[in-house]
Amino acid sequence: MKILVINGPNLNMLGIREPDIYGKGTYCDLKDLIIGYSVKSGVDVEVYQSNSEGAIVEKIQDAYGEVDGIVINPAAYTHTSIAILDALKAVDIPTVEVHISDVESREEFRKVSYIRPFCKKSVIGKGFAGYVEALDYLIDNYGDRK
Ligand code: DQA
Repeated sequence: MKILVINGPNLNMLGIREPDIYGKGTYCDLKDLIIGYSVKSGVDVEVYQSNSEGAIVEKIQDAYGEVDGIVINPAAYTHTSIAILDALKAVDIPTVEVHISDVESREEFRKVSYIRPFCKKSVIGKGFAGYVEALDYLIDNYGDRK
């Protein structure tokens, strides 16, 4: 099974940006966690990050026919991007949305997620562990061990 993990803008600044909200773990720590868990689970994972909406759209398009599941934290684009929603719909790959912080208990604008209706599941406010939960969901429901 192949899973693509996509992280959106400013997530490369984890560990530096608002540690009271996102924690002290760095983007590198997050990558290590995801790769370590995928090795343990026997799945092939690619971890991608971009600050650019267009690059994320292209990465999703390139996943067509190549990956079995997507884990995506579109970060701020969650609340604005119809283009990312449309790209996910176009490739129609099982997708799980992740947010490190509890977007439901923050500003009103963070309660809007354009991609949520398309996603099989959303994992919100569980920190880095949310990515592991998302991987597990895809492996259990769409992987060889289903
Ligand atoms: C985030 C929440 C978003 O509202 C914010 O813009 C982010 C990160 C999260 O993981 O909690 O950059 O997606």
